[in-house]
Amino acid sequence: MEYELSEYSSFESTKELSLPKDPLQQIIGQSEAVRVAKLAALQRRNILLVGPPGTGKSLLAQSIAFHLPQAREEISVLHNPEAPERPLVEVRTAEKIFEEKKQAETRGKMLSPEELPFFVAEKMGFRCRRCNRLSAAAQSACPNCGALKYSSAPNDFLSPYFSESPRHDRVHTTKITDGREEIIVYERVGEKARVLDQAAMEKLDALRKTKPRRILVPLARKTFIQVTGASETEVLGDVRHDPYGGHAQIGTLPYLRVVPGAVHEAHEGVLFVDELSALNNIQRNLLTAMQEKKYAIAGRNSQSAGSSVRVDGVPCDFILVAASNINDLPYIFPALRSRIIGNGYEILLETSMPDSQENRAALAQFTAQEITKDGRIPHATAAAVEALANEARKRAQLLDRADNSLTLRLRELSGIIRLAGDLAVSEGAELIEEKHVTAASEQSRNVEQKLRDKYGSVWKAGAAESALDARPSAQKEVS
Ligand SMILES: Nc1ncnc2c1ncn2[C@@H]1O[C@H](COP(=O)(O)OP(=O)(O)O)[C@@H](O)[C@H]1O
Ligand SMILES: [Mg+2]
Repeated sequence: MEYELSEYSSFESTKELSLPKDPLQQIIGQSEAVRVAKLAALQRRNILLVGPPGTGKSLLAQSIAFHLPQAREEISVLHNPEAPERPLVEVRTAEKIFEEKKQAETRGKMLSPEELPFFVAEKMGFRCRRCNRLSAAAQSACPNCGALKYSSAPNDFLSPYFSESPRHDRVHTTKITDGREEIIVYERVGEKARVLDQAAMEKLDALRKTKPRRILVPLARKTFIQVTGASETEVLGDVRHDPYGGHAQIGTLPYLRVVPGAVHEAHEGVLFVDELSALNNIQRNLLTAMQEKKYAIAGRNSQSAGSSVRVDGVPCDFILVAASNINDLPYIFPALRSRIIGNGYEILLETSMPDSQENRAALAQFTAQEITKDGRIPHATAAAVEALANEARKRAQLLDRADNSLTLRLRELSGIIRLAGDLAVSEGAELIEEKHVTAASEQSRNVEQKLRDKYGSVWKAGAAESALDARPSAQKEVS
């Protein structure tokens, strides 16, 4: 973003800094990645983000989703009476949903009680049988003469003495048009009534006769879906087990047991896969989904009654945003990687930025952001931000051997801000001061020193951690 140098470089505390609303503008030091991210949102391209932990990969993925328009399509599964285990898919656009709703609402003509025939208004409880006055159907006694308009309890043993009949919400009658008898139905809708002639009723019937539907992916949904584990069910969807095997009377019909996968929920949005290689073999399914833009949902457990159910052609037109550590690149399926690059970008995130006035101002913005996000720590003085920038400089040198630079491994820096904030709180200080940042930096460096002694470098320690993370999911795949 364009930094207001005056604002970000001359302030007394970070409280004075105004923060950008657009999450893309909250990302500092990754201008190339941000440029590509904007393009990806606009042109619907895939992205593979490569870089060490804490450099903003997840943040970038979320900001791409923020820049996408709201979804236009809703995905439903329909009961298929001819083949219940092959539910059908239906995609409705926002316009179609709106149109259908409007049609259903405006079908027939709405009449107020005084426009209704006398006997219809009486049966519906609008008109008193004794004094003929109109009143709300919700009132069971006539406010004019006190007579009961209808029995509120039809089986009440006293009701024959007080009222002739219960309230009717539907009254059928006939009308003669051109010598032909036509059925007319009045339907109470609150304090009004709808009148349906034969043609309107046929249309309504047709509407009601449409196959029972279950909305799988609603129109109002997030444009950001994150895959959190390497489970086929989570990524590709599933059909739940039914202990009664979908038995016609006591079981649950198959179409009601279909569960969408992340690929379907991300339709029209972003599918974010953190640590792409951890998906193992599911990468192959992901590739198919990306190529076809449709992926069948089937029961995944062969022991389950769901395994005989299959819904073909469920749409999954998503933008894939995947993240990977450099070390894990070899474990990404080459075909998937070339698919991403073929229709998108591979971005290597920066680990440091030059130590300039402008980038120090960016760090001030970052500090204000982190403090605001945390919500439990006070703002920082200009001197504290300066100390943080000096720490960022040391870290760029230490971790990436970058001279005259500021680190962009910002999760670690964010940790220091929080630690400094807690120190300030414990001292009852109104702002985070230089000494708090210095103390927090030392404390966190002590921890990292221990890690380095054990693993050689923080970078390797990080790699060892992610290798450990990847192992349990790999085992899951085998078992
Ligand atoms: N380039 C950046 N600009 C602003 N904040 C960042 C940046 N990179 C990381 N952060 C901060 O560090 C946190 C962790 O970043 P994250 O996006 O989760 O990193 P990654 O996914 O690469 O591990 C973010 O929530 C954010 O607060
Ligand atoms: Mg992340």
